[in-house]
Amino acid sequence: MEKAPTLRVRGVTKRFGGVEALRGVDLEVGAGEVVGLVGDNGAGKSTLVKILSGVQPPTTGWIELDGEEQRFERPVDATRAGIATVYQDLSLAMQRSVAANFFLGRELTRPGILGRRLGLLDRRLMDRRTHESLSQLLTRVPDVRTACRTLSGGQRQGLAIARAVTWCDRLLILDEPTSALGVEQQREVLEIIRRARQTGVAVLFVSHQMHDVVAVCDRAVVLRLGGVAAVLEGEELHVDNLVGYITGALAPREPAPSANGGGGGGRG
Ligand SMILES: Nc1ncnc2c1ncn2[C@@H]1O[C@H](COP(=O)(O)OP(=O)(O)O)[C@@H](O)[C@H]1O
Ligand SMILES: [Mg+2]
Repeated sequence: MEKAPTLRVRGVTKRFGGVEALRGVDLEVGAGEVVGLVGDNGAGKSTLVKILSGVQPPTTGWIELDGEEQRFERPVDATRAGIATVYQDLSLAMQRSVAANFFLGRELTRPGILGRRLGLLDRRLMDRRTHESLSQLLTRVPDVRTACRTLSGGQRQGLAIARAVTWCDRLLILDEPTSALGVEQQREVLEIIRRARQTGVAVLFVSHQMHDVVAVCDRAVVLRLGGVAAVLEGEELHVDNLVGYITGALAPREPAPSANGGGGGGRG
């Protein structure tokens, strides 16, 4: 039997009152694969990212990790399952230090009774580990004691991505990580994605930068009006095709999403 992909999304729909944000999305990301998720504003990209991150449940449909169905009720459920997400807004605690953000929710306590009983944090160890991890991933490493609010936009982005890459062990999700960056930093992000892929994690890369998608992705899924308009790979994965399916200039090639639950996915 073929090995199940790291991530499989099956028939996911999402309704917000009268708005059908997702209309039956199927997609897969294998270990060591980078899959692009593209689409116009409002296509449903962030909605899907939030479902994969445990921020909100799907209305119908489900997701599987390594063939196992998941039921995320809170973001921590997704984190525990090995998913790390970099959101558009980065979700950093601006008043806190770089190291505190790096370890947010995963703080290390001091050895012995101070840590076990009193819950005292081992800041020195966290500072050192943060510096080591950032040094491996970023060319310009900020002082780990400095507050996040003093960092430039690019440095914040770098921290959020480095944090996600460090902690995820199954699926890394990046929701438009390069949109606010300069050229040099964009290149750095793409390099981090390539390194993450080499460690065997699956990467879902949401982007409006078509050249980035073509440069780094094995495959791209085009969302349009909440449905999958096309899945492009190999020679078909180029900017003109992406733009064509995003705008609707090219007719959707996937079967139109249907509300009936029958049939299910083809393979398996
Ligand atoms: N919490 C919400 N309440 C109501 N509508 C929402 C909510 N979140 C997203 N939507 C709607 O769902 C659709 C998809 O949005 P979104 O997933 O943010 O698209 P994208 O990230 O591709 O720009 C849009 O029509 C948006 O207005
Ligand atoms: Mg979005």
